Amino acid sequence: LRLFLDTAEKSAWREWLPTGLFHGVTTNPTLLAAAGIPCDLAVLPALVDAAFSLGANEMQIQTFGRTADVLERNGRAIAALDPRVVVKIPVTFDGILAAGRLKADGVRVTITAVYAAHQALTAAAIGADYAAPYFGRMNDAGRDGEGEIVAMRNLVAESGAATRILVASLRSADDLARLAARGLDTFTFSPKVAAMLFADPLTEAAAEAFEAAAGADQVPAPSAV
Ligand code: E4P
Repeated sequence: LRLFLDTAEKSAWREWLPTGLFHGVTTNPTLLAAAGIPCDLAVLPALVDAAFSLGANEMQIQTFGRTADVLERNGRAIAALDPRVVVKIPVTFDGILAAGRLKADGVRVTITAVYAAHQALTAAAIGADYAAPYFGRMNDAGRDGEGEIVAMRNLVAESGAATRILVASLRSADDLARLAARGLDTFTFSPKVAAMLFADPLTEAAAEAFEAAAGADQVPAPSAV
């Protein structure tokens, strides 16, 4: 199992990375904007330093540009920031062209914004490290997210490629469990979904009952002893 936290908010990295649940963090230009960070190569070194110093083992950063040449150039600059950085690239014609060039030079890449099984095959064909389907957005668009993602996983496995299916756009802890039960093992999700992993009222009631039985309220805090 490999989990990523899908946000560029350092406060969320600070909160969630120490739990040990996450292999790393994923970002994209939309998430940078949401965190008030410009999509600018000049700001990325500080962001990368923050992610790794807060405990990420891997950081995924999306390249940007409207042509393969610009996507490739920005992707090389992003990859040069740290060997633990993976470059995300949308599954467009130019994106695949740029990703293939980056892979040829040993850069690790994630093909993102994947909505259909045949797109995952293009990621496998260029030897991408990850292909990232958008589960929630597929369902929003009236597609069968679960069926399509299971098909992706099967097609990529049968192709012999080592590309991992990195499921994104999860909206709930149930989404995560449902897809894990179908054999998916790599996910990225928001801090909001991460919080849902700990939001079971029965667990909260049980934990509270344990504390009440332990008389925890009567025990002085260590600093007061
Ligand atoms: C992935 O790169 C996206 O940030 C994300 O998974 C999209 O999630 P959403 O559809 O819930 O916005």
